[in-house]
Amino acid sequence: MCGIVGIVSNKPVADRIADALKRLEYRGYDSAGIATFHDGKMDRRRAPGKLTNLKECMSKEPLGGNIGIGHTRWATHGAPTKENAHPHMTNRVAVVHNGIIENFRELKVELAADGYVPVSETDTEMVALLVTREMDKGVAPFDAAASVIKRLDGAFALAMIFNGEENLIIGARQGAPLAVGHGDGEMILGSDAIALAPFTNKVTYLEEGDWVALTKSDMRVFDRQGSPVTRSISTANTGAELVSKGNHRHFMSKEIYEQPDTISHTLSHYVNFSEQRIQLPQALPFDFSKLTKLTIASCGGSYYAAMIAKYWFEKYARLPVEVDIASEFRYREPPMEEGGLALFVSQSGETADTLAALRYCASQGQHIASIVNVAESTIARESDIVFPTLCGPEICVASTKATTAQQTVLATLAIAAGKQRGVLSDQDEAELVDALAKLPGAISKALASEPKIASLNKALSKAKDVFYLGRGALYPVALEGALKFKEITYIHAEGYAAGELKHGPIALIDESVPVVVVAPSDALLEKTLSNMHEVAARGGKIILITDEKGAKQAGGDISEIILMPEAHPLVQPIIATVPVQLLAYHTAVFMGTDVDQPRNLAKSVTVE
Ligand code: F6R
Repeated sequence: MCGIVGIVSNKPVADRIADALKRLEYRGYDSAGIATFHDGKMDRRRAPGKLTNLKECMSKEPLGGNIGIGHTRWATHGAPTKENAHPHMTNRVAVVHNGIIENFRELKVELAADGYVPVSETDTEMVALLVTREMDKGVAPFDAAASVIKRLDGAFALAMIFNGEENLIIGARQGAPLAVGHGDGEMILGSDAIALAPFTNKVTYLEEGDWVALTKSDMRVFDRQGSPVTRSISTANTGAELVSKGNHRHFMSKEIYEQPDTISHTLSHYVNFSEQRIQLPQALPFDFSKLTKLTIASCGGSYYAAMIAKYWFEKYARLPVEVDIASEFRYREPPMEEGGLALFVSQSGETADTLAALRYCASQGQHIASIVNVAESTIARESDIVFPTLCGPEICVASTKATTAQQTVLATLAIAAGKQRGVLSDQDEAELVDALAKLPGAISKALASEPKIASLNKALSKAKDVFYLGRGALYPVALEGALKFKEITYIHAEGYAAGELKHGPIALIDESVPVVVVAPSDALLEKTLSNMHEVAARGGKIILITDEKGAKQAGGDISEIILMPEAHPLVQPIIATVPVQLLAYHTAVFMGTDVDQPRNLAKSVTVE
């Protein structure tokens, strides 16, 4: 994840920005840069590679100034070169950015028509050019930034400084975290409280959609609509910030909210957005086009991520997939054709059954691949190739950000397989990559349904049983929703394939049973809606998770609708995972259970 730092002060900032960036190194990066405004002009230093390279540039050509912004970049659009490193700068503004600007292609065309042409391959430069165009018309920096922020789609955090302005930093948060530090005669902007730690422990965490204007002495925060809002100042325990809850009540909530950022960071490892193609981090030790079958084994939520992937691999790569629960797989001792591919999905990389399934497959002459979040884990070490999820440590026992990162990696692998097997054309790949580019922004929009979801907590807490229904790739999301719900609320919940309910379990439905139907508008919507009406006719209380189109089609009989953004079918299951996480979370919080450490459960299941 990219790191952002900005300081507006009455003392020099460049070296202190570099030190703060150092504290953000844990997020991972491949280039870095700093811009300041000094002696009536803006200047910047940038360098690919580690911060020592940047520091070396700065020692040869120091940067003066009491206002500046800095950035550690994890490349999304364009290679990790000096030209693509942030800050992106014009004669008017310097910008650093974390995340993905989804509509950068449209913006690029629009800007080019007005003669504003980028020099880098980045999406970030569009922000600099948009602000420049406004300022060229005579618009003041504050107003220029305000109007440009409104035009940006996606999940991102931003910081800007302006030529001629030594007392203004603008920051914006939409899907990627950003915090403000209240220093002594200075204000600091940072990706998290760790960056702010050397300066102050008085921190304001910006909320989704907030943007902020900082001067040396004050902070003005505005919401998405541009109305001024008040955000409180808290005291950060920065020593332990890496494993702290920030401004969240539970790790689970923090981790749910990190998802736009963790997904965009994970995607940047697998996707070349500039060329609109999948670019896996390493050469594959196998050839997807030679495979006759893919075997996937995992446990719990990781198993449901793998189940979603089965739909993707079969649809986009026409590759047959066998997916099984690792504890079943290992004792089935299934026959396996030599040279096949076996894939293991695990957050911890230590799950005993998954590891045993891996070892069985290795003994059967399979290529061993794994998707893990803990890079040093046993599963990672025993794999021929590892596809990391890059979402940082996950503390809450119930997995959230690791689950969606696993789904994201699996989606990129399915597209890579489809390409290698000649099923997907370049154009198909570009369309799917575009859907992935929009994913962090869509997750951010899905998070906006939180107040609605929270309002359902009381009714859900009274239920004895809750059903979750879905079809196609949304069926595993129903399973995931039921798993999350039961593990943290201790209320019985069951996920079912919508079409299967009438083969028995519909007998359980009456007025006391909430039924969560996960059904965005896709090819199967009509079918799921018919199943939903069958349930409603028997008194079941329907909570429908859908998009605007789906809501229009759904008709009556529905108690509650939770709206998600409309999206490409590829990414619908990943987006739909967010509201089911929030449903479980808010019901558990209402009931007062131990959300982060539910009874009887362990984060890493190293026993059978
Ligand atoms: C559910 C959950 C578990 C894990 C499962 C596998 O919220 O967290 O079901 O998904 O124990 O763990 P890993 O992914 O570490 O192999």
